[in-house]
Amino acid sequence: MTRTSSQFVLTARVLHWLMALMIVSMLFIGVGLVTSVSERHAWLLAIHKPLGIAIFVLAVVRLIVRLRNPPPPLPADLPAIQKLAAYASHYLLYALMLTIPLVGWAMLSAGGYPVMLSHSLRLPPIFPVNATAFAVLRHAHAWLAALLLLTFLAHMGAALYHGLIRRDGVLSSMIGTRHELE
Ligand code: HEM
Repeated sequence: MTRTSSQFVLTARVLHWLMALMIVSMLFIGVGLVTSVSERHAWLLAIHKPLGIAIFVLAVVRLIVRLRNPPPPLPADLPAIQKLAAYASHYLLYALMLTIPLVGWAMLSAGGYPVMLSHSLRLPPIFPVNATAFAVLRHAHAWLAALLLLTFLAHMGAALYHGLIRRDGVLSSMIGTRHELE
């Protein structure tokens, strides 16, 4: 009898829910950043940078965990177009989790700003100082974050569709309440 794992491994599940919380916080903090001019701006930025770098590091760890532990298969009766949408949105989420922090870091480097993770920990610049590049990267950071928000909303909608309408075990495979498949 062959046993196929029906749920994500524990590390993948912990990383998934931890990063979901961090990313939603980041989107709110990002919007708070561009809408506040008081001393709160510096305070938000001091959280935004290290949290963004932590998201990048965890995304790399998550990618390694994902490559070492293939996820449970999608239900066999799921229409091909929905399977395609699921795979495409997952690739896009990984790409955005890796790209947005790098663009944020490159943007500050291009603007000549120090990227401080704490009072004493300074990251090296990853882009030469260049005003035009700073402006382009600033826009790219905002647009990619907007794309992340849209992809995240679609992902949440799909999770609820699987959990509440299809009830096919896809959502519980990430919550960790799904039983093993025989
Ligand atoms: C997943 C990670 C990240 C997300 C989701 C994110 C999201 C955002 C969002 C939504 C904004 C507001 C954009 C706008 O409407 O103009 C923003 C602004 C900004 N982000 Fe990020 N960000 C991330 C990582 C980073 C990192 C790693 C850095 C730097 C090391 C960074 C630096 C900045 C800066 C400097 C601003 C502009 C603040 C201002 O204009 O006052 N971000 N970010």
